[in-house]
Amino acid sequence: MLSHLLHLQGIDSVVVESRSRKYTEERVRAGVLEQGTADLLTETGVGARMKREGMVHYGVELRFGGCGHRIDFKDLANGRAIFVYPQNKVVADLFDARLAANGRIFVEAADVSVHDFGDASAQTRPKIRFRANGQPQEVECDFIAGCDGFHGVCRPSIPAGALTVFERIYPFGWLGILAEAPPSAEELIYAYHERGFALLSMRSPEISRLYIQCAPDEDISQWPDDRIWRELHIRLATADGKWKLTEGPILQKGVTGMRSFVVEPMQYGKLFLAGDAAHIVPPTGAKGLNLAASDVLVLSRALKEFYASGRKDLIESYSKTCLRRIWKAQRFSWWMTSMLHRFDTDNGFDQRRQLAELDYVTSSRAAAQSLAENYVGLPME
Ligand code: PHB
Repeated sequence: MLSHLLHLQGIDSVVVESRSRKYTEERVRAGVLEQGTADLLTETGVGARMKREGMVHYGVELRFGGCGHRIDFKDLANGRAIFVYPQNKVVADLFDARLAANGRIFVEAADVSVHDFGDASAQTRPKIRFRANGQPQEVECDFIAGCDGFHGVCRPSIPAGALTVFERIYPFGWLGILAEAPPSAEELIYAYHERGFALLSMRSPEISRLYIQCAPDEDISQWPDDRIWRELHIRLATADGKWKLTEGPILQKGVTGMRSFVVEPMQYGKLFLAGDAAHIVPPTGAKGLNLAASDVLVLSRALKEFYASGRKDLIESYSKTCLRRIWKAQRFSWWMTSMLHRFDTDNGFDQRRQLAELDYVTSSRAAAQSLAENYVGLPME
């Protein structure tokens, strides 16, 4: 995305990707775009397929006590919406756009390392070294953007004392499945249940994406398909018994841990961290991909200003600008997670509090509006 945004400003870039194109385009990742993220794709000319295949949702359902309650974005968030369109398709669309514009992308890059980025005022230029196509490669550049995920090389290349980590690890994970089954509802359902959280989402009119709260180190081999469906039926059931969950062949399943994580600052000399390299949110707020998009929008604007006028102030305030939005998304993701999951340490107080919170959010216009405006996305900058 950053490479595409820079290209539109006439700024050259090289993308170094450790995976193959096929892997990045097939890996099942997030699926919800905020209005601002969808607008960014459209305005920058990479939104055509999203427009055709994506699904616009004007609400989500919170289900608890066997009853569904809709949060209506049209009414509560000024007509803004979310777009259900998978991250791997966004990546594929961006690959197409960059290659059509003769962008340089090295895929399956091995042994990637970053050098000479530490001093923002130094004359020496940063370098990225790696192996690709069986050859050692070196790219010399003005700046490095570490858009290489939580496990990437960029963050650990910054001297440890320069960064402060803020972190919370949750005592549960999500067991997620992709199923060849038409989604059982038109909009997403976030379900609170005494056996644990469940989520109904989707990827297309034919494919459902469903999750259940599980142990953080849950052994997936203990979860044959029929056990997963049984648990989903229980956690998503309505008291009137009228709602039906449609089953279908499970195409893929896996367990993900849940954490909240931020490093500050998100820059060191001429190296900028963006997306999961700098921060992780638990998936309950559907914010991860959207935060990565807003980070790179801020960075592209700062770099544009630098190349146009030599002004460095936007570059210098990159981290500060991003962190204001990131912490609000962290707060929202933590809040959604705390409201909807079963905590083992609970003595009953938290369950009562969670039910009161859900009752409040679905009965107070002010509270529902707060959820809605955060869910569709706070301003990108
Ligand atoms: C998904 O469709 O994968 C999804 C949707 C909403 C979330 C998390 C994941 O909050």
